[in-house]
Amino acid sequence: MAIEEEVYSSDDTVVSAQSGGDEAEVFENILRPKDFEHYIGQKEVKNNLKVFVEAAKKRDEVLDHTIFYGPPGLGKTTLSMILATEMGSNLRVTSGPALEKPGDLASILSNLNEGDFLFIDEIHRLRMPVEEVLYTAMEDFAIDIVIGKGPSARTMRINVPKFTLIGATTQIAKISNPLRDRFGHVEKLRYYEKDEVAEIIRRSAEILGVKIEDDARELLAYSCRCTPRIANRLLRRMRDFAEVLYSGDITEVVVKEGLKSLSVDSKGLDFADQEYLKVLCEKFNGGPAGLSTLSAAIGEDESTLEDSIEPFLIREGLLQKTPRGRQATEAAFQHLGLGSHTRLV
Ligand SMILES: Nc1ncnc2c1ncn2[C@@H]1O[C@H](COP(=O)(O)OP(=O)(O)O)[C@@H](O)[C@H]1O
Ligand SMILES: [Mg+2]
Repeated sequence: MAIEEEVYSSDDTVVSAQSGGDEAEVFENILRPKDFEHYIGQKEVKNNLKVFVEAAKKRDEVLDHTIFYGPPGLGKTTLSMILATEMGSNLRVTSGPALEKPGDLASILSNLNEGDFLFIDEIHRLRMPVEEVLYTAMEDFAIDIVIGKGPSARTMRINVPKFTLIGATTQIAKISNPLRDRFGHVEKLRYYEKDEVAEIIRRSAEILGVKIEDDARELLAYSCRCTPRIANRLLRRMRDFAEVLYSGDITEVVVKEGLKSLSVDSKGLDFADQEYLKVLCEKFNGGPAGLSTLSAAIGEDESTLEDSIEPFLIREGLLQKTPRGRQATEAAFQHLGLGSHTRLV
């Protein structure tokens, strides 16, 4: 598979993969599984996709448009690349914020080859005029372009090659109904089980050529918020600690000390997660507090809180979303060592 890759820096400007990207992106690509076999976990999604791929191949058709949703780092981009590989197709990568005008999308679509995959990351951030181009493209493999201006303007329909759109989003609720309805497959990625994360760490350590002891691996698997990207990032940090401060192998001692240095706590919460809970519990007496209020108090974007921090806290039973706002649970107070007695109910 040829992947025409555009790597996004944090300010959404498109930079070429040729320029190398940063170190984290380079490692991310090295550690990305290239086929279903090496893609660990997400069994239901994987089994479904295998059937869909098989069926499309049998009928000699393009795969139906597919959307993957779930928190960051769970493998949406990876799975999209695997799908294209399995279909023997090319994958063109872009993102919602990168497509500023309808013309940006129209030109990508008309330059696709029959059977190509188009991957739109952060598809919930598409601007409406751009999104509207997708409707006919997805449904009829055609786009309507306006020629001329004013009263003499007319619309011309041009065909685009048959393609498969893969959308990825952390916020499925922000996808409009007309867009969502045009996806044949809507697949949710879940947080990983501890043994699956341990397996991912084993695989990554092997690729990186670093030795990690079993109990160190277990501990790391408990500390990475059930997220492969975090597992891989922590593994690389532990390798640094092991090489510089210890004998070279990653042992349980290395991981314990390393996690302490990185302020990762016993539930795997990092500094930002802990800060969120502390503000909610201490400043707002556990809540309920509104998202915008919390965002201002913490100094983080609302979307960062919603995408990256809250889903895991909810999963761990530390946070609840109520109609009146965010509410810390009893378990959150206990985890922070605050005890329920500090609550002024
Ligand atoms: N199921 C998996 N098995 C092994 N590694 C995975 C898996 N899912 C994700 N990863 C690793 O985690 C990293 C982040 O995955 P990615 O697909 O970029 O996440 P997302 O697009 O959902 O934010 C990748 O480098 C990949 O190596
Ligand atoms: Mg991604």
